[in-house]
Amino acid sequence: MSAPYNPPSAPEARSSRITVPALAAMAREGRRIAMLTAYDASIAAVCDRAGVDVLLVGDSLGMVIQGRESTLPVSLPDVVYHTRCVAAGAARALVIADLPFGSYQASPEAAHSSAVAALQAGAQMVKLEGGAWLAPTVAFLVTRGIPVCGHVGLLPQSVNVLGGYRVQGKTADAAAALMEDARALVAAGAAMLVVECVPNAVGAALAAAAGVPVIGIGAGPSCSGQVLVIYDALGIQPGRAARFVRNFMAGSDGIEAAVAAYVAAVKDGSFPAPEHCF
Ligand code: KIV
Repeated sequence: MSAPYNPPSAPEARSSRITVPALAAMAREGRRIAMLTAYDASIAAVCDRAGVDVLLVGDSLGMVIQGRESTLPVSLPDVVYHTRCVAAGAARALVIADLPFGSYQASPEAAHSSAVAALQAGAQMVKLEGGAWLAPTVAFLVTRGIPVCGHVGLLPQSVNVLGGYRVQGKTADAAAALMEDARALVAAGAAMLVVECVPNAVGAALAAAAGVPVIGIGAGPSCSGQVLVIYDALGIQPGRAARFVRNFMAGSDGIEAAVAAYVAAVKDGSFPAPEHCF
């Protein structure tokens, strides 16, 4: 019998970076997943030291880094640049790159070339916004070795269709459609889902049914983990914070302590509290 294949010991092969199967195991075992957005190497390193499991290079960078009104102006080169920065700073956390508006919707092939750029910049997974209509694209990517995180519920890239940033899945029909979207994405191979701004009951139903880790943002405490935009978690936002946000700088004596407080609150289930939920 031949010896098992040992991959070359490149730096990343020697590291103890969290993997996609490790996240699945955490969710299965009821260990909550702490995820934050990051856009640069220094913050990525702080998050890594503080125990964040997953760093999302979110297209929220359009709003919090670039000062734009929505995520729509973000380009693939923007995401690639920030992914390279985050990957350089994070040794342990799994890095997810958001595929930006216009870079994946037109065809599976377009999504593939965007996702390849993101993975070559240092991401281990890509995130796409949309429901069942994206299932063929998810299957196309997964078949070609690209892990995919779906994003359902409030879809910021569809703000012009939705007419604003509103809680989704509030009626029985809307909740059922959301569940079907999630089912189709997972059946196509999505290894994780983000669910944004839905009532607690919908977040809980999704987490119970999905069979993959479900990371909530404004989706209640029953998800497999939570994500926030890091600037929100650090109390840096120009206007009034969204209901699902908690400022972890309050009571912390620095950024790393605030991030550690976020990780602890996600892991022990104290965040989100009822006042952060819909
Ligand atoms: O872009 C982003 O930051 C996101 C999170 C809100 C989940 O998609």
